[in-house]
Amino acid sequence: MPLDFAQLTPSIPFILEGLKVTLKIVAIAAVLGFLFGILLALLKISRIKPLIILADLYTSIFRGTPLVLQLMIIFYGSPQLFGTQIEASVAAILAFSLNSAAYISEIIRAGINAVDKGQKEAALALGVSYPRMMMDIILPQAIKNILPALVNEFITLTKESAIVTVIGAADVMRRSYMVGSDLYSFFEPLLFAGLIYYVLVIILTFIGKLIERRLKGND
Ligand code: ARG
Repeated sequence: MPLDFAQLTPSIPFILEGLKVTLKIVAIAAVLGFLFGILLALLKISRIKPLIILADLYTSIFRGTPLVLQLMIIFYGSPQLFGTQIEASVAAILAFSLNSAAYISEIIRAGINAVDKGQKEAALALGVSYPRMMMDIILPQAIKNILPALVNEFITLTKESAIVTVIGAADVMRRSYMVGSDLYSFFEPLLFAGLIYYVLVIILTFIGKLIERRLKGND
């Protein structure tokens, strides 16, 4: 297996530049997806039928169709959707936030349901308001339990971000592919891209473990 990484070396900075694009999309989508996911989860446990149906329908659609399709609909359909062509990175952030929110809402809903019912009853009996109870008592405990599932979701998001290649965003994946066509040799640049994604996932895993340990210390 003849590998020639020497010819790849001059292109490494160009590929690494794509990290900015990848990280920007993933970081913003993770935060937005998380916030929207919490909102959806609250709707799902609200006991208000129309809201529950709406949130369930949302999850069903965004989980039931391919993410790459959602990305392409938002990007290529943006003139119809928003009246103007949006940038690839904006479309990516939108698609990933909306998609991730569907998954995160299910994770959070499960987490909230797993918190002992007595906590809620005690808080309400003591006159704590519903928003305060959720924010100060239920959600902090839920988040602790679902942390591994959330880290999993952020790892998925990081790897799936590679599909922005199809709408032309200059992320790590697309740049590696471009370098491959330049060199007439795809193997080395694609291996390098793999290494970058793997390192990103290792770092995410490490941060997740760190937070988990910190939260355990609070018990
Ligand atoms: N490849 C899957 C799809 O197209 C990934 C979905 C994204 N997953 C996630 N947990 N956000 O549907």
